[in-house]
Amino acid sequence: MRVSFNVNGEDVTADDVWPGESLLYVLRERLGLPGSKNACEQGECGSCTVYFDDVTACSCMIAAGQAQGRRVRTVEGLSQGRGAERELSTVQEAFVEAGAVQCGFCTPGLVVQTDDLLERTVGAGLPAPDDAQIREALAGNLCRCTGYEKIIEAVHLAAGRRSGGGA
Ligand code: FES
Ligand code: FES
Repeated sequence: MRVSFNVNGEDVTADDVWPGESLLYVLRERLGLPGSKNACEQGECGSCTVYFDDVTACSCMIAAGQAQGRRVRTVEGLSQGRGAERELSTVQEAFVEAGAVQCGFCTPGLVVQTDDLLERTVGAGLPAPDDAQIREALAGNLCRCTGYEKIIEAVHLAAGRRSGGGA
């Protein structure tokens, strides 16, 4: 089957999609967007998190056919520009600076989920999230390496920068 949707602002089409394929598979294997990671393929770890229309979701749990006509934004779509000119988003930069990345498998999902949390808080004129709100928002994103402290630090760093008018 053919599936057409918008990803990171561009209209794309994938042909010969098998009905059982996930959106995650189409993004990674057919559209050359390997940022979203495949760790569990069972909706348990959050490493494949993307925006589906404007709501975050595990792309491994979305059948490719469900993406027809929808808008998808992946971790690649959070940075600005292309190739060597690409600039990291505030959240991406904060994760690097805070040392919140070890093996990196969980990072794309955490970055998308954090972006969403900050949109809904500081981005909407509300106070920056506290530790409890951050832990709740990221509860579906599992990290096997960091112990989460650096991740929480990264979210606070990004929230502070966004409150100060960052991207
Ligand atoms: S790979 Fe999708 S939730 Fe783990
Ligand atoms: S950095 Fe390895 S799973 Fe999170």
